Amino acid sequence: MKKVWLILLLFLSCKIFAQKFEGLALTPPMGWNSWNTFQTNINEQLVKDVADIIISSGMKDAGYTYVVLDDAWMANERDAKTGDLVADPKKFPRGMKALADYVHSKGLKFGLYNCAGTKTCAGYPGTRGFEYQDARLYASWGVDYLKFDWCNTEGINAKEAYMTMSKALKTAGHPIVFSLCEWGSNKPWEWAAPAGHLWRTTGDIYPQFDGTHKFDNWEALGMMHIVDLQNGLRKYAGPGHWNDPDMLEVGNGFTRVENKTHFSIWCMLAAPLMAGNDLRKMNDETRSILTNKEVIAVDQDSLGIEALKYSDNDSLQIWFKPLRNNNWVVCFLNRSNKTRQLEFNWQDEVVIDTLAKTELNAKATTYKLRDLWLMKDIGDTKKPLKAIIASHDVLMLKLGK
Ligand code: GLA
Repeated sequence: MKKVWLILLLFLSCKIFAQKFEGLALTPPMGWNSWNTFQTNINEQLVKDVADIIISSGMKDAGYTYVVLDDAWMANERDAKTGDLVADPKKFPRGMKALADYVHSKGLKFGLYNCAGTKTCAGYPGTRGFEYQDARLYASWGVDYLKFDWCNTEGINAKEAYMTMSKALKTAGHPIVFSLCEWGSNKPWEWAAPAGHLWRTTGDIYPQFDGTHKFDNWEALGMMHIVDLQNGLRKYAGPGHWNDPDMLEVGNGFTRVENKTHFSIWCMLAAPLMAGNDLRKMNDETRSILTNKEVIAVDQDSLGIEALKYSDNDSLQIWFKPLRNNNWVVCFLNRSNKTRQLEFNWQDEVVIDTLAKTELNAKATTYKLRDLWLMKDIGDTKKPLKAIIASHDVLMLKLGK
């Protein structure tokens, strides 16, 4: 009897504390966000064009769903009488409800941005003190995704601020994905799962392969630098609650090889896939990378476990990601500036994943190998793998039975 009460109590406390909308991000969210290319330069026509292209380019078919407007969609001031946020009338003359309706009419979902502070990072009205009011407004517009930033938050407790907004969204009643953008400053991976569906783990990405990029008073992070900062975080992610290493820079200045590597590693990390390029100018190369369904399937695998870094020798990294049905994906990544020879004898390696409680032992099981970028079967794990990997390139293979 005691046991029954205990289970009931546990069930009830889960219901009370798990306040976000459940079941909305069982795999990492996919979509497009305006910030990486457009910053504050956004408008109604851009969003409509983007929604149209997500469909015509095959991106919707590949899984991209959310069209998200980042910072600077709002007017400089809240409505003087009601205190409501107002869409900038010059950029969005028909208002946000009409725009959300347009995006919805295409079978896509609509997202917006705001900030836990008094002002957004770009200086527009923030949500501090208006959490419930803003949540109600978003619900009335049919907003399906909220990215919530962390500028101008002096003296505010991060966990409390994000929990408050999460509760406000839940109370407003319209199912919404809640994306915490707190840059990892207060270790959101330790407390954010009941509040939201994804949380940024680092500062902002910059389209360069490694290192940092200096602005006047802050530093943006190169792609591989962000990957390094994911060390130790894989245990915190899973269906419904994802580590977010920031939005994609595919098509924003990387070489073809680097675009491919960036996309591969984001999929290995089960990262949210928010395209950040100008879809109106996207070339075929970028489109084919962003819509590679076999690589996307790695990201979207329902097991929801991030890859583990199996080895890192002299800038040749080997990542393994367990998939459902005891399949695996391996990604060999050449971080160096030189072409590298790879030799990997499957028979000599046993990959043990204590988190997923599974192991890959090619001596006990033979796996068929499929190159996910060439979309070609290339043999099996009986024979050692020999390959040449260009500088900054990857070789990404699925191991199946
Ligand atoms: C922060 C976020 C970015 C973007 C900008 C908008 O820097 O980390 O992703 O949302 O603010 O101002």
